[in-house]
Amino acid sequence: MEDTKDRKVALITGSAGFIGFHVSNLLLNEGWKVIGMDCLSDYYDISLKEDREAILLRNSKYFSVHEKVEKLGALRKIFEEEEPDVVIHLAAQAGVRYSIENPRTYLESNIIGTFELLEAAKEFPPQHLLIASTSSTYGANDKVPYREIDKADHQMSFYAATKKSTESMAHSYSHLFGLPVTIFRFFTVYGPWGRPDMALFKFTQAILSGETIDVYNFGDMRRDFTYIDDLVKSVRMLINAVPSSKLNSSKEKVKDDGVSPVAPFRIVNIGNSKSEKLTDVILALEKAIGREANKSFLPIQPGDLKTTWADTSALQQLTGYHPDTNISLGVSNFVEWYRDYYGL
Ligand SMILES: NC(=O)c1ccc[n+]([C@@H]2O[C@H](COP(=O)([O-])OP(=O)(O)OC[C@H]3O[C@@H](n4cnc5c(N)ncnc54)[C@H](O)[C@@H]3O)[C@@H](O)[C@H]2O)c1
Repeated sequence: MEDTKDRKVALITGSAGFIGFHVSNLLLNEGWKVIGMDCLSDYYDISLKEDREAILLRNSKYFSVHEKVEKLGALRKIFEEEEPDVVIHLAAQAGVRYSIENPRTYLESNIIGTFELLEAAKEFPPQHLLIASTSSTYGANDKVPYREIDKADHQMSFYAATKKSTESMAHSYSHLFGLPVTIFRFFTVYGPWGRPDMALFKFTQAILSGETIDVYNFGDMRRDFTYIDDLVKSVRMLINAVPSSKLNSSKEKVKDDGVSPVAPFRIVNIGNSKSEKLTDVILALEKAIGREANKSFLPIQPGDLKTTWADTSALQQLTGYHPDTNISLGVSNFVEWYRDYYGL
């Protein structure tokens, strides 16, 4: 395993987003130069993205580029000028439900955007290219907990289909051009500075303003919730776990993980390895807020998975670490941030 700890220029796409902000912050605090690329899309409140970015810009080693990843030549220019050692690709059109109504933005941001990234990386290869994917790629696979070697062939939303496509595209470039690639499959990430389109944020907003919350599949849903600090720690450790093309013949190989037989490429689940009942998460939230929610119980929404649950043994074998923040603590940290940010 090659160590990248001496390498200090990172390109982070989606740096004004929830996860990108936290990852950028951590690397800046470690003294990295960070080039953050984000088009500040209007998918959700832009002022939240601007506020995250304002914090990053307080550090003189942060450089922001407001551009779309799919814009021809935009990523290539950054790769050529900065020759980043590490690239963390988080920019994407996220969200399962929105992808049913707006598939084209997923095609453009996720598929064309990742293609432009791979083309630039082919020409100016970084030490390590790390790309965000999602637990949604497991789709119709109902064998839980999900392992990286499990079948992920039957995506149930166009969002998941675009993410699965980016995994395959990255694998082919990794194989053809020897690019070291790690794919993260993130499981429902939450915490301070989180995303307004996600359930926890929407529930908090609704409970605090006395509105009704929509509880899908009549509450019979389970999600593996990953606290943001745990996720960032995992990402940080994986930066140093550069896959090598000799993985399969070396002792480094993690038996039966998401490693490729033909490329320096691996897939790693990042989750809490605990599948929480949606109703328990709502209880934790009601406790943290000190108020009971008015609930409207509704059928499952098209494209949604009933359960997600991560097997994180590959992450643990690679890094010696696995996320473990419990949901009550994570939810109460989120509520504290929410009240503070919105001055409540
Ligand atoms: N948050 C989660 O629970 C979760 C779960 C699984 C996977 N992911 C993946 O992790 C990554 C980060 O997610 P997040 O929760 O921080 O989402 P986010 O929406 O907060 O961040 C994504 C950022 O990318 C930017 N962006 C979108 N399209 C772009 C484009 N075409 N060009 C440039 N910038 C663009 C947005 O403005 C945004 O700031 C995404 O790839 C997402 O699909 C997130």
